[in-house]
Amino acid sequence: TGMTTLDYGFANTAATRSSVTYIDGNAGILRYRGYPIEQLAQGSTFLEVAWLLIYGDLPTADELAAFDERIRRHTLLHEDLKRFFSALPHTAHPMSVLSSAVSALSTYYEDSSDPNDPEQVELTTIRLLAKLPVIATYAHKKSLGQAFLYPDNSLSYIDNFLKMNFGILAEPYQIDPTVSAALDRLLILHEDHEQNASTSTVRLVGSTGANLYASVSAGINALYGPLHGGANEAVLEMLARIRDSGEGVRGFVERVKRKEEGVRLMGFGHRVYKNYDPRAKLVKESADAVLAGLGVNDPLLDIAKELEQIALEDDYFRDRKLYPNVDFYTGVIYKAMGFPTRMFTVLFAIGRLPGWIAHWREMQVDGSTKIGRPQQLYVGEPERQFPAR
Ligand code: CMC
Repeated sequence: TGMTTLDYGFANTAATRSSVTYIDGNAGILRYRGYPIEQLAQGSTFLEVAWLLIYGDLPTADELAAFDERIRRHTLLHEDLKRFFSALPHTAHPMSVLSSAVSALSTYYEDSSDPNDPEQVELTTIRLLAKLPVIATYAHKKSLGQAFLYPDNSLSYIDNFLKMNFGILAEPYQIDPTVSAALDRLLILHEDHEQNASTSTVRLVGSTGANLYASVSAGINALYGPLHGGANEAVLEMLARIRDSGEGVRGFVERVKRKEEGVRLMGFGHRVYKNYDPRAKLVKESADAVLAGLGVNDPLLDIAKELEQIALEDDYFRDRKLYPNVDFYTGVIYKAMGFPTRMFTVLFAIGRLPGWIAHWREMQVDGSTKIGRPQQLYVGEPERQFPAR
C-alpha cells in the first residue's frame, strides 16, 4: 500500500502464519501443535516432541522407533571434520565452535542439501538432529583438552550425549538415570517458542533459498546473545558475582532498579510472557528435584530463590511485568549435572534445533512465503551534491 509503519523489534508485526506453536503470553500458555507444554514435559521424550514439531502429529510407536534408529545411524562426523576442532583455540566459546562447525558440516553435503528436494530436506533433518549433539560434545571435550569419544549407538539420544560429554576414553561410563530424565525434560521445554529471535533468523536466512545447515548456523549465532539463549550462562555468572561480591541480593536488586550500566536481572522478563513463563515453573520444579536427587547443595540455588522472591515483591518488577523466564533456573541444574557454564547455551541450541527445523520446513511448503525483507524509515540526509573537484 506504500504505508510503512515503524515497529522496533517487531513487537507488533506478524511476519508469517504458523501452526507449530501457540503462546498466550498473558495467560502463560504454551502449546506445541496444540499439546500443553506441561503434558509433554510430563509424559513425552525429546525425540517424540521433535517428531511432533516437525511432522505435526504425534508419531506411532513404529514411526518413533524408525526415527530414533535413523538418527542413531547418522551420528558419526566425517573424520576430516574432526580436525576442524584442532584449528580452534581450546579457549573458544563452544557457541562459536557450534555455529562454525554446522556451517562447515554443510560442505560435506553440498550435493544433498537442496531446500527444494523433499528427500534431501528429510536427510538433512536427520543429519542435523544426529550430529549437532556430537559436535557439541567435541566443543566441550576440546575445551577440556580431552579425547573425543565416538557415539555409542546402543544408547538413547540423551544418554549417548551424556556419555560423549562426561565419559573418558577407555573407562566405563555409568549413566545416571536422574540426570538423563532431567536433561530430556529440560530439552523438551526448549524445543520451540514460535517466532523468537533465533527462529526468525532461521526463517529469514531460509527465505533466501539458503540450505538448512546455513539457516541453522545463523540461528545458533542469534541464540548466542545474552538477551536470548545466552541468558542462561549470564544468569549463572550473575549469581556467582552476587555470591562473591558480598553486596547481598538486595544490594544487587537496587543496582538493577537504578539501571546501572549493563546491570539487568538476567533470566527475568520476556517479550511475550507478561504474567509468567510456564517453562520457568517447570524448570524450578526440576531444579529442586535434580539437586536433591544428586545430593547437590548449591548456594547459587538459594541466591536464585532469594532473588526471585525479592523481585516478585518489588514494584519495579511488578509494574514492568518481569517474572523469571526459562533461563532463570536452568543453569543451576546444568551446573549440578557437571556442565561448565559456557556449555549452557549449547544445550539450549540442541533443545531448540527441532523447532528451527519445523519452522524452516513449514516455510518451505507454505507457498505464500516470500524473501524476508523489512522496510525502513529513512532519517538520513536529503540529496546533497558531491563537491566539484
Ligand atoms: N532486568 C531489569 N529490567 C528489565 C529487565 C530485566 N531483565 N527486562 C526488562 N526490563 C525493564 C526495561 O528496562 C524496561 O524498563 P523501562 O520501561 O523503565 O525502560 C522494561 O522492563 C521493558 O523492557 P524491554 O527491554 O522493553 O522489554 P523487551 O520485551 O524488549 O525485552 C527481554 C525482553 C527478554 C530482552 C528483556 O526482558 C531482558 O533483557 N531480559 C534479560 C535477558 C533474558 O533473561 N533473556 C532471556 C529471555 S527468555 C528465553 C530466551 O530467549 O532465552
